Amino acid sequence: MGFLDSAQEMLDKGVSAAKGAVSGLAVEQQAFMKGFARLCNDGWNQGWHERNGGNASYRMTTEEVSSCRTFFYDNPSSWVPLGVRAEELRGEFFAVTASGSHLRNVALDPNRNAGIVEIGASGDAWRIVWGFKGEGVPTSEFPSHFLCHAVRKRVTQGRDRVVYHAHPSATVACSLVLPADARTVTRALWKCMTEGVIAFPGGVGVLPWMAPGGLELARATSAQMEAYDAVLWPQHGLMCAAPDFDAAFGLVQAVEKAADVYVRARCMMGGQEPAHVIPDEGIRAIAAAYRLPVNEAFLG
Ligand code: 13P
Ligand code: ZN
Repeated sequence: MGFLDSAQEMLDKGVSAAKGAVSGLAVEQQAFMKGFARLCNDGWNQGWHERNGGNASYRMTTEEVSSCRTFFYDNPSSWVPLGVRAEELRGEFFAVTASGSHLRNVALDPNRNAGIVEIGASGDAWRIVWGFKGEGVPTSEFPSHFLCHAVRKRVTQGRDRVVYHAHPSATVACSLVLPADARTVTRALWKCMTEGVIAFPGGVGVLPWMAPGGLELARATSAQMEAYDAVLWPQHGLMCAAPDFDAAFGLVQAVEKAADVYVRARCMMGGQEPAHVIPDEGIRAIAAAYRLPVNEAFLG
């Protein structure tokens, strides 16, 4: 970083502190941004975010947008077309990780490794209003995040606010062994760990392998999110949607834990299917005990 960059950074920090002194908590100090950074850090600690792997986004509430407004840039970036439109997301604001940023760094400097984008009135373009210091831009998977948010906002009546993408090893390993079929993958995961159906009663959606960062993947993933809150990208990772940061982290963790148990058991069986798994009646009994909206199509 050159002298001018450092000087600009100091100036920005000074302006941010001054704004905070007169008008409330700096964005980094607000609860939603702390939760966002913690999710990234927790995922990093689990080993799900090698290098710049994985990304996260959060649809802010009206109150959160209001309490951040004084910290927004006086001159936001120009509008960047998304190549897709989502009526549901017109005028929304998202906290989102920066493309190429290492998730282990988000908590250390959210202003540089993440930022806030505003969606235009037509629901088909974004602009930066905060963060992304040093010429950063939203994650290359933002088209997927965007379309998943649109679907999840609609199907959960606004409850889901977090979309989280991680690269958990055992889950990816399963995709090298199991067919890219939601029923097969879900049954394997449900039947090897009692907690599985409790954490993801709707099952896990699965796509064929697709190139990352594109609209094709975005469209296919969001179509799966009509039915599933977790979607497996084979040989790549997981895309999850949830109401809050804890739920998003917990969902990835539960899928990965089940996948880890499945992989270990299968290894111990010399590569064969595990011998002793929870029967379908057992899955039904768990669903009944906890009144879960279990995906019946994957049973029996
Ligand atoms: P970004 O660094 O652009 O977020 O990409 C990481 C990734 O996991 C792509 O799938
Ligand atoms: Zn990825």
